[in-house]
Amino acid sequence: MRKWLMLLFCCSFAVSAVSAELLADMHADMAGCESCHEDGEPSSDFAFENEQCQTCHGAMTELDGEHHAIHDGMLVCSDCHSPHEMEVGQQPGCDDCHDDGRTP
Ligand code: HEC
Ligand code: HEC
Ligand code: HEC
Ligand code: HEC
Repeated sequence: MRKWLMLLFCCSFAVSAVSAELLADMHADMAGCESCHEDGEPSSDFAFENEQCQTCHGAMTELDGEHHAIHDGMLVCSDCHSPHEMEVGQQPGCDDCHDDGRTP
């Protein structure tokens, strides 16, 4: 039992250690800042950037998880997945916008 707990602890630690990278940096490592920013330069309204997300991942209606389809037409990707603030593996919360206990 103890061994299992240790193993579990070590595994979760290893996973979080690997995950401590910003979403933007992880993407930039793969294909540069240009993968989201036109010519590598941030746009003024980030519409271009949010188009890019969908080019690779699909639209709100096509993504897994009901919280995507529910917010179609209301939110853009970066409202929940802020690439320069969130880490790889970090799940967007709901409380920032809903204070009525809505959860995934
Ligand atoms: C996964 C897509 C993605 C990648 C890759 C990415 N960014 Fe961003 N970036 C965004 C989005 C979306 C925003 C809008 C702000 C937000 O939601 O975090 C942003 C915002 C910015 C801003 C702030 C602009 C402002 O006016 O507030 C800068 C500067 C920036 N990015 C630079 C970079 C640089 C430099 C790289 C490469 C190292 C990079 N970004 C890689 C998606 C990305
Ligand atoms: C309302 C907030 C919200 C918006 C807007 C949103 N997402 Fe998500 N997304 C989530 C949550 C919460 C999860 C994690 C739960 C899950 O995977 O079902 C997630 C998971 C994901 C994942 C899987 C991550 C993983 O760990 O495998 C991808 C990829 C993703 N979203 C891409 C997008 C893209 C692309 C857009 C825009 C078209 C978008 N999301 C818009 C909340 C959001
Ligand atoms: C050039 C293609 C490309 C673009 C553009 C792109 N992504 Fe990704 N994204 C990937 C790939 C490849 C992965 C790693 C494999 C996977 O998890 O699907 C990934 C992974 C992710 C993940 C999962 C990270 C995790 O926790 O495991 C999220 C969330 C995500 N992207 C959101 C976004 C958002 C938001 C944008 C736009 C601001 C975006 N992506 C733009 C290709 C892209
Ligand atoms: C960036 C802000 C934001 C985040 C984060 C967010 N939501 Fe929302 N959500 C909205 C807005 C705006 C609406 C439309 C107005 C409303 O119903 O409150 C909405 C509507 C909803 C609805 C009602 C949809 C309908 O058809 O009427 C549900 C259910 C919901 N959100 C669940 C969630 C869950 C679950 C999460 C976490 C994964 C989440 N939301 C995260 C902004 C957000």
